[in-house]
Amino acid sequence: MTLADKLFNCFKKQDSFTLTDAYKANREKPRETVRARIYDNLGIRFERIAKGVYKTLDSNEACVLLEGDGRDLSMLEDNSIDCIFTDHPWLDLKSNKGGTRAFAQYECFKYTLEDFKEKARVLKDGCFLVEILPAENENNYEYLYQIKQYAKEAGFIYYSKVPWKKGTFVSNTGRKAKNTQDVMIFSKGKARSMRYDKKKSDATGKPCYMSGCNGMLPTMFDVQPVPKNKKIHQSELPLSLCERILQYVTYEDEVVLDSFAGSGVIGEAALNTKRSCILIEILKENIEKIKKRFEGNILFQPMME
Ligand SMILES: C[S@@+](CC[C@H](N)C(=O)[O-])C[C@H]1O[C@@H](n2cnc3c(N)ncnc32)[C@H](O)[C@@H]1O
Repeated sequence: MTLADKLFNCFKKQDSFTLTDAYKANREKPRETVRARIYDNLGIRFERIAKGVYKTLDSNEACVLLEGDGRDLSMLEDNSIDCIFTDHPWLDLKSNKGGTRAFAQYECFKYTLEDFKEKARVLKDGCFLVEILPAENENNYEYLYQIKQYAKEAGFIYYSKVPWKKGTFVSNTGRKAKNTQDVMIFSKGKARSMRYDKKKSDATGKPCYMSGCNGMLPTMFDVQPVPKNKKIHQSELPLSLCERILQYVTYEDEVVLDSFAGSGVIGEAALNTKRSCILIEILKENIEKIKKRFEGNILFQPMME
């Protein structure tokens, strides 16, 4: 549980709290740290109502964890999800030769057309599907092309592909393609209108939006991977990368689905940015890791059988 979670839980039932209350409740932490966590979370978890007086903000978000097969979305209603953001467990043994890299320690599979039909069924019209994919190389280019074909056949439109450059990371496999991955974005039908149209807004005097995601996507996301000693899952994406992506493709209070949750980081990114999230993960061991990530977080709801 983060210090911000602790502060939130401690004061959520009170109308207000003072800095002194917050210091007293966290005597083991330096006062500057306690104050900093309140300030960092102003507008997110806390609101300042007077000098030195704060209140917790009500939140409608939740992160639900389901244990099971993320390829079976039959429990979700048609057109019920605002964004699917996922990183499916793909296997590319040929490209992983060399170096000391360990192979995937979880079940892997290749997408089929049915997977994309199910994604299209549960996603709302115009909303975005974000797939984290390996950078293209001589072993995987046909599969990567196949994924785009399946998506198209299921009713998705290619929106954009933005590389995730893994900061200063250099792979020990000797393959430059391992230093990046792709953030592949599709929309279900024509993309919803999230892109601010300044010209039209100025001309009409009211906010106008055009088809596309919330802001112009960058040429690349340059984000350092999670350091090995901090990772709780082999393929864990950086939290800041997930938060940035979510802000481009969703609004606050919307619902995100990650059907291959791994470490659950997309759920944490969703809550941090005031979105709700449904996580699905098949491996017990990862379920435990996700539960640990959200320990003490009142917005987390594990729904185990
Ligand atoms: C590439 S990892 C996801 C990593 C995740 N994005 C993160 O940043 O932590 C894929 C995950 O999918 C899980 N998985 C494999 N097959 C699955 C299935 N059929 N349903 C749900 N989860 C599955 C694996 O156990 C693994 O944790």
